[in-house]
Amino acid sequence: MTRFSALSLLALGSLALANQDAFGTKCVQFGDKIDIPDVKVNFAEYVSGGTNLSLPDNAPSCGASSQSVTADVCRIAMAVATSNGSEITLEAWFPRDYKGRFLSTGNGGLSGCIQYYDMAYTSQLGFATVGANNGHNGTSGKPFYKHPEVVEDFAYRSVHTGVVIGKELTKQFYDEGFNKSYYLGCSTGGRQGWKSVQKYPNDFDGVVAGAPAINFIGLLSWSAHFYPITGSPSSKTFLTTAEWSLVHDEIIRQCDDMDGAKDGIIEDTDLCHPILETMICSSSTKNKSSCLSPEQVNTAQQILSPLYGSNGTMLYPRMQPGSENLAAPIMYSGSPFPYSTDWFKYVVYNNPKWNGKSWTIKDAAAALAQNPYNIQTFEGDISPFQKAGGKVLHYHGMQDQLISSDDSKWYYSHVSKTMDMAPSDLDDFYRFFAISGMGHCGGGDGAYGIGQGTDTYAGSDPQDNVLMAMVQWVEKGVAPDTVRGAKFSNGPGSKIEYHRKHCRYPRRNVYKGPGNYTDENAWQCV
Ligand SMILES: *[C@@H]1O[C@H](CO)[C@@H](O)[C@H](O)[C@H]1NC(C)=O
Ligand SMILES: *[C@@H]1O[C@H](CO)[C@@H](O)[C@H](O)[C@H]1NC(C)=O
Ligand SMILES: *[C@@H]1O[C@H](CO)[C@@H](O)[C@H](O)[C@H]1NC(C)=O
Ligand SMILES: *[C@@H]1O[C@H](CO)[C@@H](O)[C@H](O)[C@H]1NC(C)=O
Ligand SMILES: *[C@@H]1O[C@H](CO)[C@@H](O)[C@H](O)[C@H]1NC(C)=O
Ligand SMILES: *[C@@H]1O[C@H](CO)[C@@H](O)[C@H](O)[C@H]1NC(C)=O
Ligand SMILES: *[C@@H]1O[C@H](CO)[C@@H](O)[C@H](O)[C@H]1NC(C)=O
Repeated sequence: MTRFSALSLLALGSLALANQDAFGTKCVQFGDKIDIPDVKVNFAEYVSGGTNLSLPDNAPSCGASSQSVTADVCRIAMAVATSNGSEITLEAWFPRDYKGRFLSTGNGGLSGCIQYYDMAYTSQLGFATVGANNGHNGTSGKPFYKHPEVVEDFAYRSVHTGVVIGKELTKQFYDEGFNKSYYLGCSTGGRQGWKSVQKYPNDFDGVVAGAPAINFIGLLSWSAHFYPITGSPSSKTFLTTAEWSLVHDEIIRQCDDMDGAKDGIIEDTDLCHPILETMICSSSTKNKSSCLSPEQVNTAQQILSPLYGSNGTMLYPRMQPGSENLAAPIMYSGSPFPYSTDWFKYVVYNNPKWNGKSWTIKDAAAALAQNPYNIQTFEGDISPFQKAGGKVLHYHGMQDQLISSDDSKWYYSHVSKTMDMAPSDLDDFYRFFAISGMGHCGGGDGAYGIGQGTDTYAGSDPQDNVLMAMVQWVEKGVAPDTVRGAKFSNGPGSKIEYHRKHCRYPRRNVYKGPGNYTDENAWQCV
C-alpha cells in the first residue's frame, strides 16, 4: 500500500512534469509548423509563469526592456507583411490555462510599442492574446515620414491584421479553437477599438475602449493649440504648475459639492463651469503667489473652452475641469506637445524642419482635409456592429489630462443622433461610463481601479473589472449597469480605501447619504 502510494505520487509528479513539457514542446513545434502567407515566425518559446521576461528587441523608447509574466504561456513572435513596403511585428501569447477566448490588445500615443503589460494581463486571465507594434518601432512619428503605408498600418491595419492572423493561429494552436473574441485598449488603443467597431464589425464580439483618441486629427490640433495659448514659461500668459494647482483648488472649491459630497472629486464635469475671475489678485491680496494676473486667468479660461476652426466649427471640446494638476506638466508646459508636432512634421507636411511653435488654426484645417485612411475614427453609424451582435464598453476618466472626456461625450451624442437612438436603445449594445477621479487610462484622485490593466486591477469579479464585465455581457447577456471603481490608498496595487460605482452615461452620480461618501451605497445614479 505504502509502496503503491509512493509510486502513484511519483507517477503523478512525472505526469505533471510531462504535461508541462508537452505544452512547452507543443509550443516550440507549433512555431516551426506555422505556414500562413506573409507571416514569418521569428521564434516560439515557452514562458513559465513567474518569469521576468527580457525584451532585448523592444525599441528603447518603448521603455520596457523586461516584462514580468504571471501565467504559463506559449509566446510566438512574428513579422507580418502588410504591404510590400510595410510590416507589423506581432506576438501571440497562448496561455496554458486557456478559457476559450481570443483577445487583441492595442497601442498608445503614436507608438510603435507592443503593450507587453497588457499581453501579460490578459493571458493571465486566460485569453489567447495578440499584440502588434502598430507598424513601426518606438514612440516617435518619424517612421511615418514619406511612408503612407506605415500611416495606414497605424490608422487601422495593424490591429486588424493581428486579429486575422491571431484568430487563425488560435484555432490551430488549441484543438477546441475559440468561442468569442475581445478587444482591450486605451488611448490610441481606445481609438483602435473604435476603429474596429466602425470598420471591421465582425472582428470582435466585445470591445472595451478607454479614453479613445477618436476625432484623432481634432485631438492633435487641440494638443497643438495649448502652446500658442500658454506661450513659453517667460510669457505673461504662462502659469507654473504651482499656479495651475491654485486653479485646480479654485475649481474644486466651486464644483466639488455639486454632487453632494465634498471629497475632492467632481462626479459630473458637465455641471462645472468655474468663474476664474475670482483668482485675479485683488487690491487687498498681500500674497501675490496665491492669485493670478488677468492674462493668466485668460489662459486658463481658453484652455477650458472648446477649440473652434476658422469657420466657427468646433474641432475639439474643452479640456474638462479637474485635470489641471495632471495636465500642467505635460500639456501646459510651455513647449509644443511632441505627438502633435510629429504628426504635423511627418504626416501633414512631410517636413522634418516644421516647428511646433508655429502652429496656427490654419494648420488644423490642413490636417483635417488630409485625414489619412480616415484616422479620425468618428463614424456615427455603427449599425453593422450592432447587427453583428457586438457589444462595446466605452469608458473615459473625467480627470484625463491628455484626451478630454468631453470628446467621448461628443462621440456618444454623435452616434445617438446619427443612428436616431436614445441612450436607452444604445444601452443594448453601446454603454459609455464617464469615470470620476480617473486620469488618462488610470491614475487620478478617485476610484479609478476598474481592471482595465494591471495597474488598475482590483479583482476579476465582473463588477470590479471592465474586461470581465464585457465577457459577462457577451456570454451571459448581463450588461453592466455601473462600473465599480476602487480607490487605492497609495497608488496601484495598494490597499483599497473605498469603492465607488460609476454611472452609465448620461446618468450622473449623486451623493445621497446617509453613510460616508466612501460608502458606495451612499451614492445614486440619477
Ligand atoms: C526584471 O529584470 C530587469 C532587468 O534585469 C530588472 O530591471 C527588473 O527590475 C526585473 N523586474 C522584476 C519584476 O523583477
Ligand atoms: C521592429 O523591431 C523588430 C525587433 O527588433 C524588428 O524585427 C522589426 O524589423 C522592426 N520593425 C520595423 C518596421 O522596423
Ligand atoms: C507584394 O506585391 C505582390 C506583387 O504585386 C503582390 O502579389 C503581394 O500581394 C504584395 N504583398 C503584400 C503583402 O501586399
Ligand atoms: C465554446 O462553447 C461551448 C458551448 O458553451 C463549450 O462547450 C466549449 O467548450 C467552448 N469552447 C471553448 C474553446 O471554450
Ligand atoms: C503664499 O501663497 C502660496 C500659494 O498658496 C503659499 O504656498 C505660500 O506659503 C504663501 N506665502 C505666505 C507668506 O503666506
Ligand atoms: C468648416 O471647416 C471644416 C474643416 O476645417 C469643414 O469640415 C466644415 O465643413 C466647414 N464648415 C462650414 C460651415 O463651412
Ligand atoms: C468621511 O470619512 C472621511 C475619512 O475618514 C472623513 O474625513 C469625513 O469627515 C467623513 N465624512 C462624513 C460626511 O462623515
